[in-house]
Amino acid sequence: MSERGWRAVDSYFNETIVGRDSVLEATLKANAAAGLPSIDVSPAQGKMLTLLARVARAEKALEIGTLGGYSTICIARALPREGRLLSIEYSDSHAKVARANIARAGLADRVEVRAGAALDILPAIEAERLGPFDFVFIDADKSNNANYLGWALRLSRPGTTIIVDNVVRDGRIADASAKDPDVTGTRRMFEMMAREPRLQATAIQTVGDKGWDGFALAVVE
Ligand code: SAH
Ligand code: DHB
Ligand code: MG
Repeated sequence: MSERGWRAVDSYFNETIVGRDSVLEATLKANAAAGLPSIDVSPAQGKMLTLLARVARAEKALEIGTLGGYSTICIARALPREGRLLSIEYSDSHAKVARANIARAGLADRVEVRAGAALDILPAIEAERLGPFDFVFIDADKSNNANYLGWALRLSRPGTTIIVDNVVRDGRIADASAKDPDVTGTRRMFEMMAREPRLQATAIQTVGDKGWDGFALAVVE
């Protein structure tokens, strides 16, 4: 099976069960116009996030790594009207594009995008007692994945769902001698998941529009 085949299957899923989505299409258009890289989750992955957040009955959600807000919109759609999603984005310009996309999606009332380095902002979120979060999506600088998992745990309650994106990266995750900080950071994250008695975790490899990658899913005991 080739990359072309993976894309054909994603197209088939998009045309059938995922469905066209003018709000998300407008988001991708605005992101491209602003020069953002197209490293958002795919349409099928985005809908998976919506459904996972719904299954978790999430009311308070946390995202680390907003980019243009594609995944943000997907998660926020699962929240009740009084729900809250706090999304952290390092780049001011990405955060601006994301806020406009989120407003266009009609979700500005339940989403806050905070600009800054996540490791600076997470302590403030704890100090402001904005947790515990029901659902956490980790999708920022992969070298910090273990640190972000630690924060997700600190800001969690029993039953919290934690998802980490991009944990396979063309299979590089399995290379124990890798020097790439994205890979070593994600391997440290997996070691922490394995050691941490409060977490039950698994990971699923994916192929499709975004190549060969995958996500980890953990639930707090
Ligand atoms: N979740 C998005 C994609 C995020 S791409 C989606 O699927 O639609 C990763 C984002 O993380 C980028 O916008 C990048 O600027 C941001 N990022 C990188 N380092 C960060 C840091 N230290 N703190 C917060 N965000 C960071
Ligand atoms: C890349 C993809 C992502 O989904 C992400 O969050 C960060 C980087 C990439 O392909 O480089
Ligand atoms: Mg990602």
